[in-house]
Amino acid sequence: MTGLEKAEKIRNQKGSKPVSCLTGYDYATGRLLDEAGVDLILVGDSLGMVVLGFPDTTHVTMEHMLHHTAAVARGVEKALVVGDLPINSYDTPSEALRNAHKLIKAGADAVKLEGGLKQIKKVKAIVEAGIPVFGHMGMLPQRVLEEGGYKKKGKSDRQTEDIIEGCLALQAAGCFAVVLESVVGKSAAKITKALAIPTIGIGCGEGNCDGEIAVITDVVGAYPWFVPPFATVRADVAGETKKAAKEYVDAVKRIGS
Ligand code: KIV
Repeated sequence: MTGLEKAEKIRNQKGSKPVSCLTGYDYATGRLLDEAGVDLILVGDSLGMVVLGFPDTTHVTMEHMLHHTAAVARGVEKALVVGDLPINSYDTPSEALRNAHKLIKAGADAVKLEGGLKQIKKVKAIVEAGIPVFGHMGMLPQRVLEEGGYKKKGKSDRQTEDIIEGCLALQAAGCFAVVLESVVGKSAAKITKALAIPTIGIGCGEGNCDGEIAVITDVVGAYPWFVPPFATVRADVAGETKKAAKEYVDAVKRIGS
């Protein structure tokens, strides 16, 4: 299946089959998630924090994204691989298109960018070039410094209407789906109802969106130093890694003793 066909399939899951999405940042994880049957793997700029050790996503560059997108793509056959456009990589429509092409050349099937009304010309430029675009509304991590922290969205009717307006514009511009991040549950459900494309929730409560996305290191417990309150941790990779490393260290110490 081509990237366009995979994106179309996900768009058509609205109202019939919840869309399962996870982030992935390397070959082995991409391959494991694909084998597990996940619909969409996002090489998210969250890699800035959970892989590269930066305090937020504003430090992530195109070079980082290309390196990790290529690694994930080498391990994936069935899932749609989405490469995130990092901050300052889509300031104009031509820059957005140029960098979207680079992510596709690295192996992505589609790209994601943050924001609504201000991004419409950029989304149109990318979609018209035959590249599927995943929108991202609600709390926008690339704006964390401007906003002075991670703020819940959709707290008022006005804010919810603004998000709906942005999402409808993204939909009209050709996005195949849109992430809703940290939106009050009731508002997320209202936004989901207003759209013909799937909403993919993170931190929006259960059952308010057409699908869910989670950061893989939260799901498998691989990044224990910060776990968002809404995350469901399903394994203890950090604990098992430390245990195995300690056993290895002890075994090496025993050699020759
Ligand atoms: O970068 C990322 O991982 C994301 C998801 C949290 C949606 O944008």
